[in-house]
Amino acid sequence: MADNFLEKRLQDYNANASKNGRKQSFSLASLMRKSRSCRGYDASFVVRADQLRRIVAANTLAPSSRNRQALRFRLVLADEACKVLPHVRMGAALPHCKLPLPGTEPNAFIVICATDEPSESLYIDVGISVQSMLLQAAEIGLNALCIGSFDAVAVSRALGLALQPLIIIAVGKGIEKFSLVEISPDESRDYYRKDGVHHVPKLRLDDLIL
Ligand SMILES: Cc1cc2nc3c(=O)[nH]c(=O)nc-3n(C[C@H](O)[C@H](O)[C@H](O)COP(=O)(O)O)c2cc1C
Repeated sequence: MADNFLEKRLQDYNANASKNGRKQSFSLASLMRKSRSCRGYDASFVVRADQLRRIVAANTLAPSSRNRQALRFRLVLADEACKVLPHVRMGAALPHCKLPLPGTEPNAFIVICATDEPSESLYIDVGISVQSMLLQAAEIGLNALCIGSFDAVAVSRALGLALQPLIIIAVGKGIEKFSLVEISPDESRDYYRKDGVHHVPKLRLDDLIL
């Protein structure tokens, strides 16, 4: 009840703010709803360095195990995107779609590396970092995709990295349509495409709580 009340107040505030020309703010839930894994981008929209910097800046506020802050970020813009693109794999659950479709490839990436040896806590830091950046991208009106399936050696060599890449985020202006589908625990969690819409099955709150 309280959550709905606050959400409503925030919506009213945002509606008034945009009417009055003030900067719009977003609730966490609305940012998370917008923040879908995007595998098709508008090729005419070229991501700028300041946009990638703004996304990476989320890490200056993020928690980190023992506050080590061992993650480092290589920004890849349109001039270098071709060095990363052949080595990343998108949409493994939809092999027949061969994503990204030609002409809809992302033209920017953030390659996450670490100064520390891989460890359990480092990978938790990576997860927190990725989600923080995905939400920041959504806040500035961009779309993104976390990519764990890529050829780390090839990316490292192509970009001349001294550090091993752990994960990659693709960034751009998305052109895909999404739908979140509530499912029961016994239903398939594979995402699927129907009539040009990318459907993402999600478990209900009551099924998540033990
Ligand atoms: C750690 C991690 C690695 C992922 N790796 C890939 C990947 O290599 N390629 C890809 O297309 N999607 C990848 N994804 C995106 C997931 O497929 C996506 O989060 C899932 O389908 C749910 O969709 P949603 O993010 O829109 O909720 C990855 C997501 C996470 C969290």
